[in-house]
Amino acid sequence: MSPTTATAQACANIAFIKYWGNRDDALRLPANSSISMNLDGLYAETTVQWLSGPGEDQLVLNETPQSGDPLRRVSAHLERVRAQLGTSSAANVRSVNNFPTGAGIASSAAAFAALTAAAVSAAGARLSERELSILARTGSGSASRSVPDGFVEWFAGDSHETSYAESFAPADYWALTDLVAIVSQAHKAVGSTAGHPTATTSDLQSCRVAGAQERFDRCRQAVLERDFATFAEVVELDSNQMHAVMMTSRPSLFYWLPESVLVMCLVRQWRAEGLRVCYTLDAGPNVHCLCEAADATEIERRLRTLAGVQDVRSASPGPGARVVSVE
Ligand code: PMV
Repeated sequence: MSPTTATAQACANIAFIKYWGNRDDALRLPANSSISMNLDGLYAETTVQWLSGPGEDQLVLNETPQSGDPLRRVSAHLERVRAQLGTSSAANVRSVNNFPTGAGIASSAAAFAALTAAAVSAAGARLSERELSILARTGSGSASRSVPDGFVEWFAGDSHETSYAESFAPADYWALTDLVAIVSQAHKAVGSTAGHPTATTSDLQSCRVAGAQERFDRCRQAVLERDFATFAEVVELDSNQMHAVMMTSRPSLFYWLPESVLVMCLVRQWRAEGLRVCYTLDAGPNVHCLCEAADATEIERRLRTLAGVQDVRSASPGPGARVVSVE
């Protein structure tokens, strides 16, 4: 294969209905289907250059050459891309996140969606969006959801081929804003790859999974009807259920800080006052305040008055992964 280079961009995403726990950890087949929104303007930009033969893969992340676990994880993903495309060449990978790590925005979804799209394109191969989503899923489960546009559903499926994401509404369908209240920039103690296998140690996981499809259907319908009241109720319930599982796992994973709880309580109070806002938290303490865009300025103003909130990042619904150049 002659050396070819391609660059792709993919947004981070925020889950409305969470993915937590796998039925197959190696394939990252999730325990339940999930729903998310891509976060416009918060993206990874990744360039993959395939070399002319086998060798060591290289990874430069945010201008810093990587070794150890980050390189191993990217190399393992490139190995799956090589297997699918029938090549044995090594690759040079350069990736930049335009949002800071530790900002409460999951970087692995954006990173593995962009890596997959760039690697396939640089090899001169063409995969369907579904095939890209399946391949991205094997790098990081939530990366499957950063491949399609806008509002996205990831079907859990029951095999490698049936577990993929697709768009159910375009980015401009509903003017929602995600205001991320940053209460801590510390690197999380237990990341999601290590966290997923702990889910089944909680007595609550089977209950969470049993109700997931009903919440998924309710959330999907609420987005399609732009029904904020139903959306808020199901999004908060789903986040609370995931964190209940995390807290009751053995060992327990406890991601909330006092400031996280304060923001959650205030969001509920503000909604009772008439503002259209609800909260959701991933595997970390920062609070994603999802709101109607028309209410975003007032909610951001209120968040910024809180001593425990260090910063607020804002994102609208964003596009799917896209190749921006091929050489
Ligand atoms: O894709 P992963 O392994 O980083 O897992 C993501 C898990 C959560 O962010 C907590 C929930 C989700 O659905 O994004």
